[in-house]
Amino acid sequence: MTTDFYLPTQIVFGNGSLSRIGKLAAPLGRRALLVCGSRAWLRSQVPAKAQALLQDAGLQVLAFNAVSGEADLATVSAGLDLLRTHQCDLVVGLGGGSSIDTAKAIAGLAPLEGDIRTYHGGRQPERPGLPLVAVPATAGSGAEVTRNAVLIDPQSEFKQSIRGDEWFPRVALVDPELTYSMAPQLTANTGSDALCQAIESYTSTAASSITDGLAEKAIALLGRNLLAAVHNGQDVSAREAMSMGSLLAGMAMSNARLGGVHGMAHPLGSHYHIPHGLVCGLLLPYVMRYNLDYAGDKYARIAELLGAVEPDQPASVKAVLAVEQVKQLLCKVGIPEHLEPFGVCADTLDLVVKETMLSGSTKHNARPLSESDVRSILISAL
Ligand SMILES: [Fe+2]
Repeated sequence: MTTDFYLPTQIVFGNGSLSRIGKLAAPLGRRALLVCGSRAWLRSQVPAKAQALLQDAGLQVLAFNAVSGEADLATVSAGLDLLRTHQCDLVVGLGGGSSIDTAKAIAGLAPLEGDIRTYHGGRQPERPGLPLVAVPATAGSGAEVTRNAVLIDPQSEFKQSIRGDEWFPRVALVDPELTYSMAPQLTANTGSDALCQAIESYTSTAASSITDGLAEKAIALLGRNLLAAVHNGQDVSAREAMSMGSLLAGMAMSNARLGGVHGMAHPLGSHYHIPHGLVCGLLLPYVMRYNLDYAGDKYARIAELLGAVEPDQPASVKAVLAVEQVKQLLCKVGIPEHLEPFGVCADTLDLVVKETMLSGSTKHNARPLSESDVRSILISAL
């Protein structure tokens, strides 16, 4: 059996590392489009600081602070128009997963002439895009080390990735200090996404020894620090662990893919407007329970990584405990357990089930998922 692992991104990690953004970006272009969220632009000094650091390094900088909520095709189109009008040759994405995915799609699609919807419909990008520097301000998406941008089509509300092998950021600049200001709920939601991505990439049918090493470390860091980061946003060590855990989970999923939680989370998130991390955390225990007989050994290892089992307990007992530990942790950080309060009901599941079956994540779930399996899991989560 052969194993492929591909990650061409330079990773710079550490508290205060934002100060290096100018030196890292300057060799990659002359005129940068800085993509960030509209709320971050108004409430945080970080985008303005990044802009100043880039300008100090000799770059011209055009700010595109229009990302609001989930990344969508309309925002990407608007950013592309701006980039082309001003002939930017470099993109910097700063913020949560939505900002980085928007920046990634703008950079990737910049040299392409086709309709953006054709790429969202599955057409492969024919050429490499512009260089991208990704600077996460949350600890969750892992988008700084992936080759895909998850985007919603506002017309159909269909959420899926555009994926290009050349779409990896050139630089991932991960500064845990940027996450200190996240509110507890955002910390919980994004951290749940990271934990889910670590667990799903660990048990994916495309997992390898390389991705397993990354995922195991990510699960330990995220599982042991999520609660502390939610309770005290100024806990330096917990914040650093969450940023590293999210980064490692992103590296694992970029090569191992994910599983059924992400397959269901995308249509639920887009049609019912549920935050991505929250819906991932909500569904994770249900899908883990479904997967128990197919991922038992890895779940037993997860229980050990989370640190709450005796070494001599049988693997089958540890595996069940892992599901319970994950469920309890998510409950403690305020992740809801049911979908009905978000307007999801048994009568409206057809579209969610149909779109779940189209997802690449679904196809990589540890245990095969049929339409009726997906429907049963969703009904159990109502
Ligand atoms: Fe995710």
